[in-house]
Amino acid sequence: MDRENRVSITVIRRLPKYYRYLGELLKKGINRISSQELSKLTGFTASQIRQDLNNFGGFGQQGYGYNVEELRNQLGKILGLDRTYKTIIAGAGNLGQAVANYRGFEEAGFKILAMFDKNPKLIGLKIRDIEIKDVDEMENFIRENNIDIGIITTPKESAQDVADIFMRSGIRGIWNFAPADLKVDDKVIIENVHLNESLFTLSYFLKNESDYVRD
Ligand code: NAI
Repeated sequence: MDRENRVSITVIRRLPKYYRYLGELLKKGINRISSQELSKLTGFTASQIRQDLNNFGGFGQQGYGYNVEELRNQLGKILGLDRTYKTIIAGAGNLGQAVANYRGFEEAGFKILAMFDKNPKLIGLKIRDIEIKDVDEMENFIRENNIDIGIITTPKESAQDVADIFMRSGIRGIWNFAPADLKVDDKVIIENVHLNESLFTLSYFLKNESDYVRD
């Protein structure tokens, strides 16, 4: 997709939600859905949904709606979920272990090959079948295994060092949980996850209930 035809990030951020709901519909054996019905499920307006999906070449048919399986497959391809990704975790503490313990990432195609930590007490332990290795081995491991995505769950003080190792060893995507604004070069895509921001948004809406608008 060239620069002018790029789809806006707000549209992209809605796609995983469509994808998730379509998966749930499929599990229930529902094979066809109108944009109105999708609107009731997702909370987005029907015209918003049609507009979003039209960005990628309209998938629906007037009077028929959308074929759930086809649309989910197409969205999966658009989201890059039609392939698998090799990932590693830097920082095998509470959060790193929680991420490693969740099987859902692997089921979605994100295989965690190893975890890395600097604490000798953790090195050699396993979370499910994922071994915690010495962080000194991380750079070589990334190169040898062509790791696609690096997950950062170290304290914020170490996060930039970890990101630097990721960059120089060829990682293209960083999923960063540390509360740090990391500097990365143009070749690397970084996606920050801050649960606090979501929690503080919840707190805002609890305080200002009349402003609550579902999106
Ligand atoms: P933790 O202290 O349990 O784990 C951090 C681990 O990183 C430790 O095992 C430590 O030995 C290791 N470590 C430190 N420097 C390292 C380095 N240079 N290379 C490799 N490993 C290194 O901390 P916890 O609770 O797991 O939190 C981890 C990070 O996640 C923190 O930055 C925290 O602020 C952040 N966090 C973010 C959340 C979010 O929503 N984004 C939610 C909870 C925590």
